[in-house]
Amino acid sequence: MASDLGETSIEAEIARETWITRLGFIFAVWGSMTGLGNVWNWPSKVSLLGGGPFVLIYLIMLALVGIPVVLTEFVLGSTFRRGFPSALKRIHPAGEFLGWFCMANSAVLEAFYVVLIGYAAVYAGFALTGLQLGGPMGAAYFTDQPEFFVNLLMSPLTLVGLIVVWIVVFAIDYFGTKGIERSVMIFFPLLWIIVIGMAIFGLTQPGAAAGINFYLNPQPNQFFETKMWSTAVSLSFFKLSAGMGILTAYASYLPRKGELTNSAVTTSLLDTTFAFTAGLAVFPIAATVGVLGDETVGSVGFAFVAWPGGMTMSGGNLLGFVFFLMIVFLGVTSAVSLLEAVVTAVMDKFGWPRSRTVIVMTIVMFLMGVPFTLWMAAPGAAATDVTWGLYLLDIFDYYVENFGLVLVTLFMMLITGWVWGGAKIIETANEAGDFELPSWYVWVIKVIAPIGIIAAFAFIVLSIFLEGLYLAGTVLDLIAPLVWVVICAGAAIALTMAKGVE
Ligand code: PHE
Repeated sequence: MASDLGETSIEAEIARETWITRLGFIFAVWGSMTGLGNVWNWPSKVSLLGGGPFVLIYLIMLALVGIPVVLTEFVLGSTFRRGFPSALKRIHPAGEFLGWFCMANSAVLEAFYVVLIGYAAVYAGFALTGLQLGGPMGAAYFTDQPEFFVNLLMSPLTLVGLIVVWIVVFAIDYFGTKGIERSVMIFFPLLWIIVIGMAIFGLTQPGAAAGINFYLNPQPNQFFETKMWSTAVSLSFFKLSAGMGILTAYASYLPRKGELTNSAVTTSLLDTTFAFTAGLAVFPIAATVGVLGDETVGSVGFAFVAWPGGMTMSGGNLLGFVFFLMIVFLGVTSAVSLLEAVVTAVMDKFGWPRSRTVIVMTIVMFLMGVPFTLWMAAPGAAATDVTWGLYLLDIFDYYVENFGLVLVTLFMMLITGWVWGGAKIIETANEAGDFELPSWYVWVIKVIAPIGIIAAFAFIVLSIFLEGLYLAGTVLDLIAPLVWVVICAGAAIALTMAKGVE
């Protein structure tokens, strides 16, 4: 593809930083994929939708939709050696709009994602020190639930957590791929040790059998439920960090002819394995402390209310500390990747130096996150959305995940597979692949994966008609989607029109 790059970019080409090792790239991608989604999204979907069969369906959709999407994003990055908007622009000028729409959607996601990591950091601190947190609900230990969580939501500590986590994320990404690679070399083994240790602990608890039964209890008739299949698709995008511009950014830092195919399969399966193992820890322990079947299982409320609420068991404080520390580490490696996706996109378009880009984008996304820490009680909001901050977080999360990620992925697959060419994707992957993709795989990329995404999206839209729009009962229910569209489309138009260096 050298001709596509043009001669002017030869300097940039030479200067572009690269991963030091292949393992570094794989660990970094895994670090991005394996995030907060593994601790609540995954377990909740698996347990509520149908246990074992759902895991099977997830694996099938991973092969048909998830992995082809990951591979396509990798190919985009490694071919054009640019962030998401600039890479798509090389295929078609309109692609740049899609690219920036994606980056704006990702920025909103990053803004509230770091708020959640901040909660976990505060919890880890209180679990470790055993201190009480005062507030409107009276002084509470982290095990006194929901008092502690409400006190936290209504205190400036959410903002403190946000600041602390941003400092860590900033410090890692400031050093680019080197910083990311060094950090994941530590986080990767550490996280596996923690999750395996927790699974072993969980499986030796008295509630193990009940927990596993709840988690994996197979009900074969569920194979016929549409919801299972469509959820598997949207969940896999979130978990695989697809449609966020991350995978393209990371692959753009591979040396020429880097391996892509095996990397896509390995990282996706490693992520699923981690999630599966986390479920082996979470459910037996939840059963043992008596919060299994709690309606908040798997939601934000599960991690921050039900789970710590049961931690009065012996060893509970240490277990709570380890659990929240794991959440912080899981989250940080994902948050770093999203910051990097945005930073790469901005550096490639405007030619800014990394240091300035990381500083500016950190400040922008930190400020975007502040509204999600608002501590005032939200009038008329659903019971779990105690404050304006959490309410906003829930509602934006809904649009970012169900609409943003799914639509971005769909159009990316169509532009790349049809306008650029599915055959080129296979060709590029096969240039340096550990194994060869057969030529029929082009149909998986051009037809099967897009159909899977369209079907999932149709179901999401259908369920709005069946179950109603995301509703918490305030006027914001209607304003929030508009705000989301205006932010994403507005930023996309402005950034596409802005004059860049390319
Ligand atoms: N894959 C991530 C997860 O499971 C999703 C994500 C990545 C979210 C990066 C935010 C930033 O949590």
